[in-house]
Amino acid sequence: MQPYSDRIKKLQKKMPPGSVLLLTSPAAAVRNRDAHYPFRQSSDLLYLTGIWEEDFSLLINSDGDINMFCQVKDPERERWVGSVLGADEVARRFNLPAENVFTPGDLFNQLQKMLENRKALYYSFGNNSELDTKILKVIHSAAANTRGGKTAPDTLVHASTLVHEMRLHKDEYEIEIMQKACDISARAHNHLIEYTRRLIANEGKATEYEMKAFIEAEFMRGGADFTAYGSIVASGASATVLHYERNGGVAGKNDLVLVDAGAELQGYASDITRTFPASGKFSGMQQQVYSIVLEAQKKSLLSCQPGSDLGKVHDATIKVLVEGLLEMGVFKKFPFKNKDGKEEMLSSNSKEEILEKKYYRLFYMHLTSHFLGLDVHDVGRYYDAPEKHRPLEKGMAFTVEPGLYFPAEDDFLRPELLGIVVRIEDDVVITSEGHLN
Ligand code: GLY
Ligand code: MN
Ligand code: MN
Repeated sequence: MQPYSDRIKKLQKKMPPGSVLLLTSPAAAVRNRDAHYPFRQSSDLLYLTGIWEEDFSLLINSDGDINMFCQVKDPERERWVGSVLGADEVARRFNLPAENVFTPGDLFNQLQKMLENRKALYYSFGNNSELDTKILKVIHSAAANTRGGKTAPDTLVHASTLVHEMRLHKDEYEIEIMQKACDISARAHNHLIEYTRRLIANEGKATEYEMKAFIEAEFMRGGADFTAYGSIVASGASATVLHYERNGGVAGKNDLVLVDAGAELQGYASDITRTFPASGKFSGMQQQVYSIVLEAQKKSLLSCQPGSDLGKVHDATIKVLVEGLLEMGVFKKFPFKNKDGKEEMLSSNSKEEILEKKYYRLFYMHLTSHFLGLDVHDVGRYYDAPEKHRPLEKGMAFTVEPGLYFPAEDDFLRPELLGIVVRIEDDVVITSEGHLN
């Protein structure tokens, strides 16, 4: 049973009386000259309709009216670009009368009609300035024609305020797809670890691009539609670049390899990082750093339950990392920018001070979690108020990704630590009793 009609109805119930909501698919993005990036549907539209087509729009109001706009079936054009659903199929899927399914060219006329005597328009402004201007013009001409007694909306609200809160709580249908995406990714990561060991055993090296090609091929073999984001395959110190995507380096037998890569399935992202010794065998220092990060993740996972929050999940990681860093002696001498932006060399053996002044950010500079769903950094409000994390609830999905980063340039550290990076990233969803990893 497809969940989409129910989601649209649920959204309509949340819309204030007298309001209209419009969602449109993004314009095709040019890569160069007449070549385009692969089309990616807007996550909001995917969530509400499951339709992955260009020139598609959804226009609804708080009275329960539903209009859709889709490409016209045209065999000649479809020979070039592939088949499209067409109005009949769209009407059938949503059980809509034929007169509620329009062509893309009808959008602004229908919008103007629907805005008559309405208070507010919900729309995702800020993504496409050309469309923003057209919509403002429609509102403006509706407002200019009020002498006959009709009224026009005086309020424009971002559609995310309604749709993103719905998307934050994943339903069973979504969790099933996300589990499949994670299964595909997890298998691919495991296969890559074995593959890299073989490369090192046979050739003494593993290039980043062949490891990247391997894991992405494994995703596709497993049934993925896309990669959920640019795969990061970084050997040795390259992993200190958080969004390293160059993938031009080479892992030798003594290197760690950090792979942050995830499959996308039906629009849903998985986001997994594993760090492993290319040869299969850690050095003593690599092992020590890895153990601290793994322990941090285990402690954070204990906080992943209803009523907890992402602040607690992060704090659990920080506590373990700081204890581990203290044990390794990295705070004996370290540079830190003071209030005036000047760097000074400090020394500390106080856990409280390191936590309070956030000295650990030299080695762990990002948060432990982000929401996960149709977007890899998924939507939804993180805070109830400034500095007040919202409680975790059933259906919230997010990552748990502690790490430690020792850049090769940090020559205040002991040499064996330089260039070591470990991040471990899992994906969890909150259940009634705890979480599913
Ligand atoms: N792969 C992006 C992230 O971990 O946030
Ligand atoms: Mn992540
Ligand atoms: Mn990641």
